[in-house]
This record gives sequence, C-alpha cells and structure tokens, in this order.
Amino acid sequence: MIVVTGGAGFIGGNFVLDWLAGRDEPVINLDKLTYAGNMETLATLRDDPRHIFVKGDIGDSALVGELLVRHQPRAIINFAAESHVDRSISSPEDFIQTNIVGTFRLLEAVRAYWNSLPSPASGRGAGGEGVDQAAFRFLHVSTDEVYGSLAPGEAAFTETHRYEPNSPYSASKAASDHLVRAYHHTYGLPVLTTNCSNNYGPCHFPEKLIPLMIVNALAGKPLPVYGDGMQVRDWLYVKDHCSAIRRVLEAGKSGEVYNVGGWNEKPNIAIVNIVCDLLDELRPRSDGKHYREQISYVKDRPGHDRRYAIDAGKIQRELGWTPAETFETGIRKTVLWYLAHAEWVAHVQSGVYRDWVDAHYAGVTAA
Ligand code: NAD
Ligand code: TYD
Repeated sequence: MIVVTGGAGFIGGNFVLDWLAGRDEPVINLDKLTYAGNMETLATLRDDPRHIFVKGDIGDSALVGELLVRHQPRAIINFAAESHVDRSISSPEDFIQTNIVGTFRLLEAVRAYWNSLPSPASGRGAGGEGVDQAAFRFLHVSTDEVYGSLAPGEAAFTETHRYEPNSPYSASKAASDHLVRAYHHTYGLPVLTTNCSNNYGPCHFPEKLIPLMIVNALAGKPLPVYGDGMQVRDWLYVKDHCSAIRRVLEAGKSGEVYNVGGWNEKPNIAIVNIVCDLLDELRPRSDGKHYREQISYVKDRPGHDRRYAIDAGKIQRELGWTPAETFETGIRKTVLWYLAHAEWVAHVQSGVYRDWVDAHYAGVTAA
C-alpha cells in the first residue's frame, strides 16, 4: 500500500494510472480537488478497488494521521501542491498554505506514523506483517525552479546547485524541500526528494504553456508568448517523470536528492512553433492558413526566469534511469492525446468536470 497526495492533478494522475497499470499494490489517493484536481483523469479507476480516493488536504494532520494508522502504507509520494507560476504571482497565499504549511503538517503526521512503526531490530514489520521504519519512504516531488535561473552557456543544475528561487511558487517549493531535508537530518525520517524539469503530456491543465497552446490553437484563439519567447525550459514527458519517481522509490538512497530531466532544452517560441506545425499536419486549419499565424507576443511575466536546464547524470549513473521518449515522440503523443480528448478539454474549460466530481465523489472524505 502506498499513499499518493495530489493524485488527481497532472503528474499525480499520470502516476496513479501508470502505477496501477503495472502492479496490484493499492494506492490511497489524497487530493483536495482544487481547480487543478480532476477526477475525470482517473475515470477508468472509478470502480477499481486498488484505488482508494480520499478528498482532503495534506494540511489536515488529523485526517492524514488517521489514514496512515489505518492503512499502514510503506511509502508516501507527495505531489500535492499549487503549481502554476502565474497564479503564484497574482495570489501567492495558497502557495504558502499548501506548499509550505501543508507540507509541514504532512511531515508532522508522517513523523508520528513513522515513529509508531516497528524498528527492523524488533523482528516485526517487513517480514510480512507490514512495513518497518527502515523500509518506509517519504518521497517529495519538487521542481528545478528552486535553483533559479541559468545564464546562457552556464552548466545545467546538479543536485548541489545553490537554491535561488525567484517566484512565489519556486520559493514555496524551495521551503518545502528544506523542510523535507530537515526532517531527515533532525528526526531521521527516511526521505527522498526529486527535482524535475518542466513536464508535458496527457491530462495537463490548459493553463500551462504546451496544453494552452494546443487548446487555444484549435479554438482559433491567440497563442500568447511572453516577452521575446526566448526563455529556455527543459522538457520531460510526464510518463518519464513517473518512471523516474518509481525508480527513486525503489532504489533511491534515503536522504538523497535526485534531479530528473530529459536533456531537452528549448526556447518557448520553438515549442510553440513545433506545436503549431504538428497541428498543421494532424488537424489542418479549415481556412488553409498555418497555426503559427495565431502566435501573439504579449507582455512578459514579472521576474521571468530566463533558463532552466537539468543535469540528470546522477539518477542515470546511480539508479540506471533514462527517459523513454525524445521530445519529438513525446510532443506528438501529447498533441494526439489532446486531439482525441476534446471532451476532457471542454469539461475542464467549462467547469463541467467539477459538477462531475461533485456528483460522483460528494460523500468521499475518508477511506
Ligand atoms: P497540478 O497543479 O496539476 O496538480 C496538483 C494536485 O494537488 C491537484 O490535484 C490538486 O487538487 C492537489 N492539491 C493542491 N493542494 C492540495 C492540498 N492542500 N491537499 C491535497 N491536495 C492538494 O500539479 P502538477 O503539475 O501535477 O505537479 C505535481 C507536483 O510536481 C507539484 O509538487 C509540482 O511542484 C511538481 N512539479 C511539477 C512540474 C510540472 O512541470 N508540472 C515539474 C516539476 C515538479
Ligand atoms: P509554464 O507552463 O507556466 O511553466 P513554468 O513557468 O513553471 O516554467 O510556462 C513555461 C514557459 O512558457 C515559461 O517560460 C512561461 C512561458 N509561457 C508563455 O510564454 N505563454 C503562456 O501563455 C504561458 C502559460 C507560459
């Protein structure tokens, strides 16, 4: 049994689907269902007894504590967060509450649970009766944005790069990373932290660059490129991020940090052009024009980081993880997914999915 937090979001949702596609070990999915949580992503698991959904907040220590004692998970993977930089600029409060205070309260509940587990020396636990303290893991999912911005030509972020977060989002994630680290050093909690580059793929909320460009293009709307469009991001297909997390959970060393990335640095404008060209091929505009004509340069994001790049050498060397997709294969799969899931997009945009959630999960607050 594992607990996943934020498993109705983009990466957490993909993780839960992939996890249960590959193994029978059940998942407790604790998610507050903010605007970014979408049970429609998990619709295929609705009657699956291996997926136990709990609507709740990682900051609710009593709920989390009760869940842990009841289900005795061997691991917790913390995806839950406020994740959008632009929202963190216009309203940072939720980022402080969930990413910092929420992670702190989650860690407190996890620490109490972990202290209640048998030590390996007791002979109880991993032998079959359940998890022991040595086998337990808390895996914290974080971002490369905590490292700040790189100059052109500067070496990619390694795990020892200094923390220099620049947005309220990245500052809140940096604080959560520090808390996780402190709980290992101070209390001995067995933790793992992953810092990943920008993800893309199925079920991505269309406020982030790639899905926004796809849905706006198809709707005939402008494609807003911030500033000069030459900011660089390092892109990883979400399923590769999920496989990296599984690998770190399986073989990562307690207390260690692993950077995750696909060596795919690209300027934003190049990404937008690739999306436009794929749509020209797969769903040409009815007027015969090119989607690139919809590109519109707009005012830059305040404090916009110029470049992120991940050095994924450590996870490759020490854990043997490499991504399965190139950017070319991953972006094609992504565009095809959005073309095939117009209803998912329409529901997310219209708020219908919230009605769906309310109808199907109204009474679900505890497992
Ligand atoms: P998302 O915004 O799509 O999903 C976040 C999920 O967390 C949602 O389902 C939401 O309902 C849930 N949630 C929010 N606050 C909660 C709370 N207080 N308690 C319980 N659930 C709560 O985010 P994502 O893109 O899937 O990112 C997941 C994690 O991965 C985040 O921690 C993020 O910082 C990290 N990350 C994201 C990227 C990326 O490119 N998207 C890259 C690296 C790391
Ligand atoms: P985003 O998907 O918000 O991820 P992050 O800010 O966490 O990297 O943005 C990716 C890049 O795309 C970032 O440099 C901002 C830029 N961007 C645009 O140019 N236009 C947009 O409409 C959005 C949402 C992002």
